[in-house]
Amino acid sequence: MAERKRLVAGNWKMNSGRADGLALARGVAERARAPHRCDLLVCPPFTLLAMVGKALAGSGVALGGQDCHPSPSGAFTGCISAEMLKDAGCSHALVGHSERRHTCGETDADVRAKTEAAWRAGLVAIVCVGETRAGREAGQAREIVCGQIAGSIPDGATAEQLIVAYEPVWAIGTGLTPTTADIAEIHAAIRGELPAGTRILYGGSVNPKNAAEILALEEVDGALVGGASLKADDFWAIAEACG
Ligand code: PGA
Repeated sequence: MAERKRLVAGNWKMNSGRADGLALARGVAERARAPHRCDLLVCPPFTLLAMVGKALAGSGVALGGQDCHPSPSGAFTGCISAEMLKDAGCSHALVGHSERRHTCGETDADVRAKTEAAWRAGLVAIVCVGETRAGREAGQAREIVCGQIAGSIPDGATAEQLIVAYEPVWAIGTGLTPTTADIAEIHAAIRGELPAGTRILYGGSVNPKNAAEILALEEVDGALVGGASLKADDFWAIAEACG
């Protein structure tokens, strides 16, 4: 089976204007000239996609959107389609991030439709899953996450089109992380549900200090990084933690 090359992906969320976004993109592109052992991806806000895409050109750092609408076009005010992401230079789209599941009420069925849309447009879908604190405390993390996988991933997935990000909701932006044993357990459970070779990222408070320990886990194929992706040095330190 082909080796699963690790991926370090930055999710900028609703941060950055043109000036700091450009500086950050250039900082990442510059550092990426040094040898590294992982794939790199940044997901800026929609308003910055074209500009960041230009700044990353030739660097090997890929561009992704943070969400997409299930339809290719139409009367959906405020939404962006997967085809528009592709047209803007994206190769990837995040779908089902917990901030969208929880603040925008997205269901597994919505996430599944968005994943299909990403594939239709020729994008790799990064499907996000993760349990809440209450779910973890009730001992149901594994069931919740496997249920999200079953509901959110369309039939016919391939390892080329799909990446899964395990992001416990309670670990996002909190500075808290599961134990490495807990991460390994959930990743192994997820792997049992996916086509062979599919990459599974860990996300939730990954930073330059904890990255090496997390990325050393056999079942962890990279990281989805929020806060620490807003500083080129920190993002790069996480990439370097891939060895
Ligand atoms: P965080 O966010 O690294 O700031 O915890 C991760 C994410 O939400 O993707």
